[in-house]
Parts: sequence; structure tokens; C-alpha cells
Amino acid sequence: MLPTSPTKSSPVKLYDFHPPVADFRSAVLRGLRQPQKVLSPQFLYDKRGSELFDAICQLPEYYLTRTEMQILRNNAGAIATALNHRVLVELGSGSSQKIRILLGAASQVTTYVGVDISRQHLQEACAALMADFEGLEAIAVCADYTQPLPIAAISELHNRPTIGFFPGSSIGNLEPAEVIAFLKTVAVLGDLIVGVDLKKSAAILEPAYDDAQGVSAAFALNVLVRINRELGANFDLSQFEYRACYNETAGRIEMAIASLCDQTVRLGDVEISFKAGETLRTEHSYKYTVEEFQLLAMEAGFQPVQVWMDDQQLFSLHHLKQM
Ligand SMILES: C[S@@+](CC[C@H](N)C(=O)[O-])C[C@H]1O[C@@H](n2cnc3c(N)ncnc32)[C@H](O)[C@@H]1O
Repeated sequence: MLPTSPTKSSPVKLYDFHPPVADFRSAVLRGLRQPQKVLSPQFLYDKRGSELFDAICQLPEYYLTRTEMQILRNNAGAIATALNHRVLVELGSGSSQKIRILLGAASQVTTYVGVDISRQHLQEACAALMADFEGLEAIAVCADYTQPLPIAAISELHNRPTIGFFPGSSIGNLEPAEVIAFLKTVAVLGDLIVGVDLKKSAAILEPAYDDAQGVSAAFALNVLVRINRELGANFDLSQFEYRACYNETAGRIEMAIASLCDQTVRLGDVEISFKAGETLRTEHSYKYTVEEFQLLAMEAGFQPVQVWMDDQQLFSLHHLKQM
């Protein structure tokens, strides 16, 4: 596949591996037909979903973003040393805000590759980086990072030393067994720097994922708006509500959309029934202790090199090396 070249209106080179709508439709139907209805978290991120996620990052309850940024600021020099002269590949790059802290401390990085499923948001974030960091080449790769990265098709990654950056606790969206498979897949990038949210009380965790202003709820419910628009469905949002609760035994926040009544929803010519109270799972967000995450990393063939944390030990940033 050939990338789209930079133009005046879009100055960023884009490699577009966004799945077609037909794949979205089959994945949604497959999820809605399971006994526990489920959607992949990646579907939350259309243009509006990415904007709502950025709004979540600003919320007082959402300690994750500001804490991880503080860890990056406090340790920028040490982390920049780990980056060395490599091509920096950020998985789930979103608005590419956190990488700005590292780029400020690591002038030797000349190529940044942002990988994200939310195409327009990704292009805008890469364009903003190029405008703000002179001499930096920012490449946009619109792809599902849970699938093997199509490195052969991305010329900037050919025969160049790379390092992977995976912040934002996105790794928490994967089930622990999937974490091992995922880390093995991205091992092709070499060393990794991964942001992992730490175990803590439900009193801190639940408001972070279900804030007082209802932004998290709007973010989750937006997936129904997207399905209505892209797949010709007729979800009535007033008949669903968002829920987030911490399952301490499993060590994860469980996020779901609950049906407020018995109802049938149409997706084109397909009918899906919901019972009152039945839930559609939108996300799990696993929390780990440092040791729990290091064990998973080692099972995947990585050696933990360094862990950076904030004073309150809310969040952790792991430097992992291939064994
Ligand atoms: C939790 S946000 C984190 C954003 C940013 N890295 C941060 O730390 O604030 C997850 C990001 O990953 C992207 N994303 C989610 N699932 C994805 C997938 N399977 N493949 C590629 N991108 C994905 C979303 O579009 C979003 O930008």
C-alpha cells in the first residue's frame, strides 16, 4: 500500500490501514450476539470519541493523564537517554501530547511514527507536532495496534532502530493473557516504554471512569451514535445508561452501557434484543501492581529495566528491554 503524500491541506504522510466499514459491521454484530454483549474499545474512537477522550483527560477525577505527564516531566532526561537515536513509534498516540515532553528532552529523535485507529485526529496531532518541533518528521499510521504492525509497508521503519511508546494505560484495555500476546507482537519495535495504571481504592478509580460532569458517559454512549450513523442502526440513547464499577477481585474497572428497559434495536436488517438491565461491555481497564505487570512482561520475553512512578504511586511507567 502506498502512503498518501503530504499536501498543503494535510502536511503529514499517512499510511492508512483503517479497516473497512464492512469489518466494523461484522465485529459489532459478532459482539452483540454474544451472551455478554461486548464491543472492542477501539470502536469508541471516531473523531467525536477522540475529542471526548481529550476532554476526559482534563477532568479533575481523571488522575491518569496529569500523573503520567508529571512522571514524564520528572524523568524526561533519563527516558530521553533510553530513546537514544531511535525512531519513536507511539501506539495509540491520540493527541500526541505526552510525547511532546520526551521530544523536548530528546532532540536526537528525528522521526516520530504515530499509530492510531482514529484517522483524522491522528493526522491533526502529527501535523501539530511537525509545526512545533522543527526538523521532526511525523508519520501517521492509521492501524489497529493489536494486529501485527505492517512494518514492511512503512519505509520509515526499514532497517532503522526503533523504540515503542505505549502510554495512557491503554494496555489496561487488554485482558492479561492478551497483554502477553500483544507484547510479543510489538517486540518487533525493540525496547518499550509502557504506561501502566496501578491498583488503588475504588473511591479513586470509579470517579475517574464515571465523572460528575458525565463526560465519560458521553464518551461511552458515543459508540452507539457511531453505530447508528455508520451501520444504519436505531439505538435510542435515552433508553441506555453508562456504568463503571471496580471489580477488585479481577483488578479491573468494568465499563458498560446498560439497557433501561426490554427493547429491540435494529442494525440494518438485523434485530438485537436487550433485556432491562442487560449490559453491553465497552471496556475493561486492568490495574496492576508493579510486580504483576513485570511478571507479564517477562512472560512475553521482556526484561524490566526501570520503573518510574509518582510520589503517591498512582501510576507507573515501565522501560522494558528484550531479553
Ligand atoms: C486511552 S487513549 C490514550 C491516548 C494517549 N496515548 C494518551 O496517553 O493520552 C487510547 C488511544 O488509542 C487509540 N486506540 C484504541 N484502540 C486502538 C487500537 N486497537 N488500535 C489503534 N489505536 C487504538 C485511540 O484512538 C486513542 O487515541
